[in-house]
Amino acid sequence: MSTENLVELHEVSKTYGRPDTPPVLEKIDLTIHRGERISLVGPSGSGKSTLLSLIAGLLRPTHGRVHVLGHDLESLPDRDRARLRARHIGIALQSENLIPFLSAQENVELALRLGHFGSRRDCRRRARDTLAALGVAHRSHNLPRTLSGGEAQRVAVAVAIAKGPDLILADEAVAQLDQSNAAQVMAEILDGPWALVLVTHDRELAEAMPIRYSIHDHRLALASAAVRQ
Ligand SMILES: Nc1ncnc2c1ncn2[C@@H]1O[C@H](COP(=O)(O)OP(=O)(O)OP(=O)(O)O)[C@@H](O)[C@H]1O
Ligand SMILES: [Mg+2]
Repeated sequence: MSTENLVELHEVSKTYGRPDTPPVLEKIDLTIHRGERISLVGPSGSGKSTLLSLIAGLLRPTHGRVHVLGHDLESLPDRDRARLRARHIGIALQSENLIPFLSAQENVELALRLGHFGSRRDCRRRARDTLAALGVAHRSHNLPRTLSGGEAQRVAVAVAIAKGPDLILADEAVAQLDQSNAAQVMAEILDGPWALVLVTHDRELAEAMPIRYSIHDHRLALASAAVRQ
């Protein structure tokens, strides 16, 4: 495995609202190498989703620096930050992040086109194949509001993985699924060379990842890590 750093966080802190309120995250240092499989656990409200949003450049840190593929996100213009995300990061957020007026198929196609995946025809085919792999091909023409929670979650995973990004950030991506669908979706999430940060309350799933972090008292702690080559 290459040891090239995909993501580096240096002393990252995040405070929401007024500066005198206590930080959600404090002095987080984190390096993600290519292909690494990481789980992130912690109590509800501990800052897991906040950390994913900071890595994705969807939130700005109050202090500290976030580098993605060697780019300091703070010094990148918004447009370049969005482009970096579109091409290199797949995000399956905890809350609905599908575009409400596009069908499932169109949501996935749009992510592919923004990520410069290929021709219109390639994007269409790739979107169809990804939805099929996730067991929601039969819902490809549905608008998000007509999907069940679990179906919408699978379409959101399709949006994240279809383009074959360098990094997938998955926030409770299989939480609403029954065991067999969850296993199918996890298999797809793991079926690629990308690095993965998996936020989950499922202990077994978290423990299946070679590198395990937890957040407690605003700090990130390494619970266990496979020896890096
Ligand atoms: N936009 C926001 N404005 C103000 N406070 C926020 C905002 N987003 C999150 N918070 C607060 O920051 C803290 C961390 O939230 P976050 O969503 O990162 O937690 P989490 O670990 O993902 O929790 P869960 O397991 O419930 O998803 C919580 O106390 C939350 O209320
Ligand atoms: Mg969360």
